[in-house]
Amino acid sequence: MNKNFRLSDIYEPSHDERARQAFVGTLKAHVNGPLEVELAQLYESKIKPAFEAKTGHAPRSRDEATPAFNAEPMYQTWGAMVYTSQDFMWETVGDTVDRLRPAFEARAKEIAAGKRLGTLTLNPALEIPEPIASTEIHRQPGNYFFQNTPDDLTAAMLYMGTVELYRAAKGLGGAAKTGEPMTGPFIAKVVTDKFPDIKPKRILDIGCATGIETVAYKRRWPEAEVHGLDLSGPLVRFAHVWAEDKGVDMHFHQMNAAHTSFPDGHFDLIVSHILFHETWHDVQDAIMREVKRILAPGGHFVNADVPYQPAVLPMTKQVTNAWQVKHNGEPYWTGFADRDVRQSLIGAGFAPDSVFADYVPIGQGQYYFFGATQKT
Ligand SMILES: C[S@@+](CC[C@H](N)C(=O)[O-])C[C@H]1O[C@@H](n2cnc3c(N)ncnc32)[C@H](O)[C@@H]1O
Repeated sequence: MNKNFRLSDIYEPSHDERARQAFVGTLKAHVNGPLEVELAQLYESKIKPAFEAKTGHAPRSRDEATPAFNAEPMYQTWGAMVYTSQDFMWETVGDTVDRLRPAFEARAKEIAAGKRLGTLTLNPALEIPEPIASTEIHRQPGNYFFQNTPDDLTAAMLYMGTVELYRAAKGLGGAAKTGEPMTGPFIAKVVTDKFPDIKPKRILDIGCATGIETVAYKRRWPEAEVHGLDLSGPLVRFAHVWAEDKGVDMHFHQMNAAHTSFPDGHFDLIVSHILFHETWHDVQDAIMREVKRILAPGGHFVNADVPYQPAVLPMTKQVTNAWQVKHNGEPYWTGFADRDVRQSLIGAGFAPDSVFADYVPIGQGQYYFFGATQKT
């Protein structure tokens, strides 16, 4: 096989798949963009005034507002379109994955049989916590853990293919093809801006999934030993071969971030990207306690997640997010948004004056960055 032929070269939707995926991307952009704007206008012009006329006050919470939204044909149409676009997405990305999976798995085998730079540690007996053990997150068929054969990379390819579809819809396509991370470099920059003197020797990315973003930390700090962990065996298997294929030495582990096997004070920097909004509150607290244990003195814990806190979110968005929890495989969006992450971090033992939670702009949106520093 041509040595330049890499996993990222293999991921190439066919003409028809690309056309369908572009349609789904555009449909999603429309539903999540202009249609939600119209819903927000409907709330201001009709739903809120009618509620006020009836009760003497505006809806005080998403739970009060939801029944009024439910009665609106436009909201029903919005829900139907979100649900359908999600179905379309898995169907069309699934076509690409089914077609390319044998080539991907063959290349992965080749990499695994060669001399490797990094390591992979699997734990098939790992107990998966709820709710993600029994929820198809984002309604991904088979969830993050689907594995029909020991080599099966379906779960990771589906995840990568849908991230790619979203990026393409935003004009950022090609990440899977070039294999380049997108959010990892941004997180690394935020970390460096916040802690200019940082020189981490060991870095851990918790909930690393395909590891595509984890590569960014090795690029930013090439001298550091970089580790990624995830509950999903198929995802860390993918992360390992992906990193090897790119010639990046990193270490991947199938582990629960709430109960790792790392020694005390092992890492100087622990990061996560969109992990906590998929994590139930008790697991979330346990992860923070575990991070407190394995973070070195002076080390930093930095998380980038969704900016869905009710204090910064218009009522319509709070209602549509709650709909996603009920109907679209997002079991903890609102639970995460309602949490006071500062208190969780303090509860885990971090010094209150080291704890932070800020909104950082990216493109037209923003990320919720929160974390803490290990003072002792
Ligand atoms: C939305 S994905 C994040 C992907 C990745 N960080 C990225 O930027 O592409 C969330 C990941 O967190 C993992 N996860 C959820 N709970 C976890 C836990 N307790 N320990 C380790 N990984 C966990 C899931 O398996 C999933 O791969």
